[in-house]
Amino acid sequence: MPRAPARAAASPTSPAPRAATSPTAAPKPEKPPKAVAKASSPDGAPPRHHIAAFIQFTTYCSYAILMFFGYVRDFVERLSRKRDPDYAPLVRDWDDFFTRRLYYRVRDCWNRPVNTRAGRVIGVMERVSKDFNYTFEFTGRTIPCINLASYNYLGFSEDVPAVTEQVLANLDQFGVAACASPAECGRSTTLTELETEIARFAGKEAACVYAMGFVTNFSGLPGLFDKETLVISDSLNHASLVAGVRVSDGRVKVFPHNNMRALERIIRQAIIEGQPRTHRAWARLVIVVEGIYSMEGDILDLAPIIALKKKYRCLLYIDEAHSIGAIGATGRGVCDYRGVDPRDVDILMGTFTKSFGSIGGYIACDKRVADHLRTHCGASIHGDSLHSAACQQALSALRIMQGLDGTTIGRQRIAQLADNAKYFREQLIRLGMTVYGEGESPVIPAMLYNPAKVSKFSRELLKRNVAVVVVGYPATPLLEARVRFCVSAAHTRADLDRCLQAIDEAIGEACVRFERKWWFV
Ligand SMILES: Cc1ncc(COP(=O)(O)O)c(C=O)c1O
Repeated sequence: MPRAPARAAASPTSPAPRAATSPTAAPKPEKPPKAVAKASSPDGAPPRHHIAAFIQFTTYCSYAILMFFGYVRDFVERLSRKRDPDYAPLVRDWDDFFTRRLYYRVRDCWNRPVNTRAGRVIGVMERVSKDFNYTFEFTGRTIPCINLASYNYLGFSEDVPAVTEQVLANLDQFGVAACASPAECGRSTTLTELETEIARFAGKEAACVYAMGFVTNFSGLPGLFDKETLVISDSLNHASLVAGVRVSDGRVKVFPHNNMRALERIIRQAIIEGQPRTHRAWARLVIVVEGIYSMEGDILDLAPIIALKKKYRCLLYIDEAHSIGAIGATGRGVCDYRGVDPRDVDILMGTFTKSFGSIGGYIACDKRVADHLRTHCGASIHGDSLHSAACQQALSALRIMQGLDGTTIGRQRIAQLADNAKYFREQLIRLGMTVYGEGESPVIPAMLYNPAKVSKFSRELLKRNVAVVVVGYPATPLLEARVRFCVSAAHTRADLDRCLQAIDEAIGEACVRFERKWWFV
C-alpha cells in the first residue's frame, strides 16, 4: 500500500471560487425542487435538508410530551415498587426509560415476524397486544403485503427457478453449514468460485468472502488497520464500519457527511501534525465511505473523493452494501455509476444480502491485501465460512447479472430497478412527501419527523397491505424520523401504483403532506 506523504505543503486550503456578483452576469438561481428543499451551509458542505421551524417545534413538543408522561408514570410506579438495594440496574437509566416509555408504545411497528420469502410480496404475521405492546399474541392470520421493506433490489430473493435448482443441488452436496472457518477446512469449492467471480465483477484482483456483511466490516477493518493508520470516516457510515474501526488499532477522525472541504481539512491536518504525541507521519490515511447511504439514499459523489485521494495519496475503502448490483449500467455499483475505474479505489467491500438475495459479505482488493486478510482477519481464522448454498445463491445471481447464463434477465432487472426507483421517487414527491436521496437510488427515505406520525404511518400502510420500514431516533437524528422505502426490480408498475395509492391515503391519515402546506416553510 502506498504510504502517506510525510508532510503536506502547509499552505491553507485555497478558498472556493466566488460566484459572479454582477446582476447581468449571474444566471437566475434555480429554485430547489420543492420536495428536497435544502439550506446551504457556509463551510462548503453539501446543502443540508431544511426542516421548517413549525416541524421542528411540533416534533420537539411531541418528544417533550412523551417524556413528561413517561417520567410521571415512572414516578408513580416507583412509589409503589420496592427496589432491591443490593443490585445496580443492569441497563442504563436513559436507555431503559427510552425503551419502556417511548419505544414500547410503538414497538409493534418493528420486528414484525414474517412467514414467506422476502420477495415482491411478503407475508406479515398478524399480532395483537393486550398489554400495551409488552407482549404479543399471533392471531394466526397472515397479511400479504407488497414488500417495500426488504433490500431485495434485483428480485433474487424470489424463487428464480434456475437459481433455486442450483442452490438445492448445492445444499444436497454440502449441507447447511461448513462447520469450520475457511482456514480450517471450511473452504468449499463454491466459496472459492464466489471469491474469484466477485473479485472479477468488482474489478479487483482478489476477494475474501465472509459469513455476514456486518462481520465483513467488523472483523475486516481490524485486520487491515494498525496503530499507524488514521481512518477518516464519513459521519453517516453504517454501524458495522463504525464498530469495525473502533475495535481496530487505527485512530479515527470523522468528517461531516459528504463534506469534501472538511475531508480535505482533516487530511491536511493529519499530514501536517502526524500521529499524536510522537508526531511521526501516519503510515496510511484511509478514507472510509459508502456507495449508497442506507438511511439517506445518497449516492456517493466519487470523483472529488478520488481527486483528494490521489492528491494526498490516501487509501479509499468503499462499502458497497447497497450499491453493488443496484446501480450502474452493468450493476457494478458506484464506480460503474459514476464512471470511475475501480482500480482507483483500494478496497471495495459489499454484501450479498441485498442485490444477490443471499447472505454474507466480501472485501475485494489487491491479491496481497486479500492474502493478508486471510491470515490477519478474525473472521477468516475463527469464524465459520459462509455456507456453500448461500455462496451458490450469490454466485448464481452474479452470473445472471452478468448474462453468463445466456439470458438478458440480469441486465433487464438492473434497468428495471433504476426505472422503478426513479418513478417511485418522482411519484412520492408528487404526493407531497419530503424525499431524500438521489434519482436511481433504490433506497428512498421520506420524512415523517414527528414520533407519533412514525407509528401512525407504518400502521396505516400495514392496514393497506404494504410493508415498510420506519426509522426514528436514535437511528436518525431526533428531528429526522422517516420511512425508508426500498424498491425492487421485482415490483411491477401496478405494484408501485397500488403502494402509491396506499401511501397517499396514509399520508392523509398521518398528515405528512409537508410540501403542500404554506406553513411548512
Ligand atoms: C452500509 C452497510 N454495510 C454493511 C451492512 C451489513 O450487512 P449485512 O446486513 O449483510 O450483515 C449493512 C446492512 O444493511 C449496510 O447497510
